[in-house]
Amino acid sequence: MLTRRTLATLAGATALAFSLAVPAVAQDKIIIKFSHVVAPDTPKGKAAAKFEELAEAYTNGAVDVEVYPNSQLYKDKEEMEALQLGAVQMLAPSLAKFGPLGVQDFEVFDLPFIFTDYDALRKVTQGDVGKMLLAKLQDKGITGLAYWDNGFKIMSANSPLKTPDDFLGLKLRIQSSKVIEAYMNALGAVPQVMAFSEVYQALQTGVVDGTENPPSNMYTQKMHEVQKHATVSNHGYLGYAVIVNKTFWDGLPEEVRAGLDKAMVEATDYANTIAKEENEAALAAMRAAGTTEFYDLSPEERAAWAEALAPVHEAMAERIGAETLAAVKGALGQ
Ligand code: LMR
Repeated sequence: MLTRRTLATLAGATALAFSLAVPAVAQDKIIIKFSHVVAPDTPKGKAAAKFEELAEAYTNGAVDVEVYPNSQLYKDKEEMEALQLGAVQMLAPSLAKFGPLGVQDFEVFDLPFIFTDYDALRKVTQGDVGKMLLAKLQDKGITGLAYWDNGFKIMSANSPLKTPDDFLGLKLRIQSSKVIEAYMNALGAVPQVMAFSEVYQALQTGVVDGTENPPSNMYTQKMHEVQKHATVSNHGYLGYAVIVNKTFWDGLPEEVRAGLDKAMVEATDYANTIAKEENEAALAAMRAAGTTEFYDLSPEERAAWAEALAPVHEAMAERIGAETLAAVKGALGQ
């Protein structure tokens, strides 16, 4: 006689046999949720889409990358927590946003006028110093995979910003970096940390007077529509570390991880190839839009900004860590 227990066992065995016979279907895929805060049509947005395409191809469909742009899932601070908790698997936060995680070294990238151009920057990000910095994330349950470029920042407000004195008393939105806070303070501005997704509205309603960002971010968030003036100062750099949840990454089958590594190398190449031209195109589009008056600093004016901000390097050395600062300056030959 068939007891309830035998029936249950049989049902289980049938289900198992069925599941073994059926080829891998969508739900068997390894899902990588990749959350970010910018528009799809930016260097980071495009590189994330490129990674998605390559990762799926190089793992023969074993991996499904789901990209969530524009803070759809999480804002700046929340996405870091979500990564650590494993609610998402991959992020590419700006290097200016690692302080709250307890890794302050990345704020070295925010030092004003530290990189003369992309080539100088790459001496750090593509070399041993870059690797050393990414390794500092391991203790936080995070593995750093790569650096993706965005670009050099411009300043914007509703009043002209030609000399350091023009910043006096302006409320400016910043990312969470203490180095950025320090240089805004050095200019006499009143820095206000705010999530990226809230900046447009804050500018529009006058909660803040201005901000800084590379042109690609300013343009794709339409910030130029709510800023009367901008100065092409290139006073600082904004780029990203692509990071994954360490437990997730270490637990992947080796051949899957190899495919993802290959995809990341190529997506990184792509990101770092398009970033400069994307920013140039965004700047040209904003100039053409005519809603913002752009000012290009003369070499003398730029030197005056650099001089006003120079003390920030020394003042922030302890926060960044003397060793990290020396390593970065060493790589730059400074
Ligand atoms: C910002 O918050 O201004 C940027 O970090 C946004 C981004 O990810 O580029």
